[in-house]
Amino acid sequence: MKKLVILGSTGNIGTQVLDVVNKYPKKLGVVGLAANNNFDLLLKQIKKYKPKAVAVPNEEEAEKLRKKVSVPVYSGENCLIKLTSISGYDTFINAVVGLVGIRATLNAIRRKKDIALANKETLVAAGEIVMREVKKHKVKLMPIDSEHSALFQCLNGEKRSEVHRLIITCSGGALWKKTKEELKSVTVDDALNHATWNMGNKITIDCATQMNKGFEVIEAMWLYDMPIEKIDVVIHPQSVIHSMIEYSDGSIMAQMANPDMRLPIQYALSYPERWNAPIERMNFSKTLTFEEPDLNRFPCLKYALEAAKKGGTLPAVMNAANDFMVWKFLNKECKLMDIPNIVKRVMDSHKIIKRPTLEQIEKSIAEATKKAEEYFNKL
Ligand SMILES: NC(=O)c1ccc[n+]([C@@H]2O[C@H](COP(=O)([O-])OP(=O)(O)OC[C@H]3O[C@@H](n4cnc5c(N)ncnc54)[C@H](OP(=O)(O)O)[C@@H]3O)[C@@H](O)[C@H]2O)c1
Repeated sequence: MKKLVILGSTGNIGTQVLDVVNKYPKKLGVVGLAANNNFDLLLKQIKKYKPKAVAVPNEEEAEKLRKKVSVPVYSGENCLIKLTSISGYDTFINAVVGLVGIRATLNAIRRKKDIALANKETLVAAGEIVMREVKKHKVKLMPIDSEHSALFQCLNGEKRSEVHRLIITCSGGALWKKTKEELKSVTVDDALNHATWNMGNKITIDCATQMNKGFEVIEAMWLYDMPIEKIDVVIHPQSVIHSMIEYSDGSIMAQMANPDMRLPIQYALSYPERWNAPIERMNFSKTLTFEEPDLNRFPCLKYALEAAKKGGTLPAVMNAANDFMVWKFLNKECKLMDIPNIVKRVMDSHKIIKRPTLEQIEKSIAEATKKAEEYFNKL
């Protein structure tokens, strides 16, 4: 049985991980859970899965929980590190939103735990450090994302030297059909109205601005050790082809399935095996279409490609500014197009540190968040 510690168990990905656990109770077990505010759901999960330990950063929420359950509840700044330090698990799932899980992920790697990574911000901000540690400690890092799972499957058994390019598909997000003028006045509800995927709010806004696709390009660079020049993005609104690899001879391998995150989640946990379909099977009734990305209407993708090329601390800075602005947009405190504008200004004001340490990355993130706030206050 594979034993799991799940960071972000109450979220969109976390609850779907638990759906897969429910389907395979003899193959998967839960040893640790962590969440932030969703007290009721976390309480239900603790009662159902009986983990060895739980982590909740918020001290008050943790105290409330301690009164209801007998399992140890870690809280405060280091609670995620404490949770990843427990014994008796083999796979750490990072399904938290934002940058909070980086140190916990590194702690799990150093403890020789395999990683199933949904969280995008980890590789965007600290890809070089994380991949170095993965190699050093000889652990497996499996992607929990439809695109990176597709790339992984299409690369399986092939020679990396024969890869011509990675082609990452992009649904276009909820606003793909909007004109540049219309994008200036879209509402939060418009941006959250994604046609093919039902996800957490932060990532849905990142899809609407296409920053999410930029994150995925950066993640793919680290996961598959590919230069940015060998990674292309293609708009594919139906989200049926999850990504492709073009080889030197012109063959293109694609992975297809109905859009449902339980498939990449299950594959990350079952690999190298394939278990029975956790999703509805394809019936080929849809017409599949492809378009070029539009960096003029969706500048976040352009900025992410720039950050990927320049490297060092710039992707972490871009991510921090984006994080700050997306929550402001979700709180209806700014317009959608303020996100790319401020991200760009924060990136331009940053002096890149090449091959940064984790401390330098964290310092750059703090400075970028402060800068974004400064620019936001002057909007
Ligand atoms: N959703 C998708 O389809 C999808 C696909 C690919 C990749 N991803 C990536 O996966 C990550 C999670 O996305 P999501 O859509 O599942 O987000 P989500 O629904 O917002 O869930 C986020 C989870 O993180 C928890 N959390 C937030 N801050 C925390 C903290 N400080 N300590 C512990 N837990 C904390 C939340 O707890 P509470 O509920 O208690 O607040 C919740 O369980 C993101 O990086 C996203 O980009 C998502």
